[in-house]
Amino acid sequence: MALALALWRWCIAAALLFSAASGRPATFSQDFRITWADSHIRELDGGRGIQLTLDQGSGCGFASKYQYLYGRVSMKIKLVPGDSAGTVTAFYMNSDTDTIRDELDFEFLGNRSGQPYTVQTNVYAHGKGDREQRVNLWFDPSQDFHEYSIMWCHSRVIFSVDQVPIRVYKNNEAIGIPFPKSQPMGVYSTLWEADDWATRGGIEKIDWSKAPFYAYYKDFDIEGCPVPGPAGCPSNPNNWWEGPTCKVLSPEAAKRYRWVRTNHMIYDYCTDRKRYPVPPPECSAGI
Ligand SMILES: *[C@@H]1O[C@H](CO)[C@@H](O)[C@H](O)[C@H]1NC(C)=O
Repeated sequence: MALALALWRWCIAAALLFSAASGRPATFSQDFRITWADSHIRELDGGRGIQLTLDQGSGCGFASKYQYLYGRVSMKIKLVPGDSAGTVTAFYMNSDTDTIRDELDFEFLGNRSGQPYTVQTNVYAHGKGDREQRVNLWFDPSQDFHEYSIMWCHSRVIFSVDQVPIRVYKNNEAIGIPFPKSQPMGVYSTLWEADDWATRGGIEKIDWSKAPFYAYYKDFDIEGCPVPGPAGCPSNPNNWWEGPTCKVLSPEAAKRYRWVRTNHMIYDYCTDRKRYPVPPPECSAGI
């Protein structure tokens, strides 16, 4: 009996140790801290999940405790259900530097009941953004948790939804196109009100009679090189995120990527001739 108990305890300890070492789903407070309105963020399930609240008083936000230089970050998010027009849930990486900002953005733009959410992505490299793309999701992201991830490698940045790549930004420094390369970035998320622009360009206003609005997060996962941290980490070609998944999309991933671009893409700055009579150079530089 005592032996069984001891063994059982050992198994639990080993399991905990293993999950921490492998970087698999962690608790919120292990890697993150609240940055805006702690009254509006509640930990659930022993910190394995959180609830974010937006009401007329405030939105809220959180950030990673560390910055990273290359890696992969993912979390599962269940977005505000029902009439979410005017709400924006953002999940992004940011170098937190003013003039030469690097930033990789996911922004989830709410909608009127029953109408599809829009996911906007953007890439800032060396202070220059204005690279918006928008896709409509192929499922209702407020019904269930779905995984959103940013993979940041030397060769490209890949934004994925449930492991389907929805955007690839290739490193084309060789032909003079900036790429986020030398500044570490933190991981951030916010839930806020942006009814001046978010839904149909600001036409659809937030309906405060539906407040408070809630979004849920779980399965936080950051696998990257913390800065400050081991000096050789960011340049180590053996880091798994520098491997095949980053270098080329597998045929299956490439197929899904094409499917998203053909069937779900609703805006691409590359084809917006009003804004860019001549498309920016990265638009024709391939993925
Ligand atoms: C909301 O739904 C409308 C109608 O389906 C769609 O045109 C729009 O792109 C959707 N998203 C936003 C953020 O307005």
